[in-house]
Amino acid sequence: MNLVKRGGLLLATLSVMVLLVACGGDKSSKTEQAQPAVQKNADGLTDFQMENGIGPVTEKIVLGEIDEAKAKAGEALFKSKCAPCHKLDKRLVGPALRYVTERRTPEYILNMILNPDGMVKQHPEAKKVLAEYLSPMTNMNLPLEQAKELLEYLRLVEKEGKEKGIQADPLFRGQK
Ligand code: HEC
Repeated sequence: MNLVKRGGLLLATLSVMVLLVACGGDKSSKTEQAQPAVQKNADGLTDFQMENGIGPVTEKIVLGEIDEAKAKAGEALFKSKCAPCHKLDKRLVGPALRYVTERRTPEYILNMILNPDGMVKQHPEAKKVLAEYLSPMTNMNLPLEQAKELLEYLRLVEKEGKEKGIQADPLFRGQK
């Protein structure tokens, strides 16, 4: 009998200790949450997101020379997936894309291709562009590899455009 009582007491003591430990752990994780490592602006975005967009690409990527084979694959993708809405030099449903690589970082372009819905909902720049073009870009659920091929193609057409002195429509109407 006594043994059972003692056992009960021991159990009770143990569970109080467990509770204390659990609460202690919880407290410390709360303080960690209260101090985010990265600063966010009024839109709730980090500097990285402001410059590079919101989506699966969360780190700077390393770009080398333009990869011709990838650019070729990107051109075929562009013709089938993007051409219904984008031309290189003229505004269509969406903006002319020849010099998009000049106005956006590579990561921004990838995030726009991979997460257009999130971008137009959350990113102030994408919101502005949507306000000009009115219809949102569709999410084509492309894998990252294909988005990178499209990026190579866009880098190539920028280079070609500069070599040939090609003018493209500006992003916003009325902008020179
Ligand atoms: C259904 C039409 C549609 C399709 C298909 C489409 N886009 Fe778009 N895209 C738009 C519109 C409209 C905008 C501008 C409005 C916005 O930001 O939502 C845009 C914006 C963009 C931007 C940002 C331009 C800037 O200067 O900020 C990029 C980059 C882009 N599209 C690339 C692509 C690529 C690459 C494809 C093919 C994989 C593609 N889009 C397919 C309609 C489309």
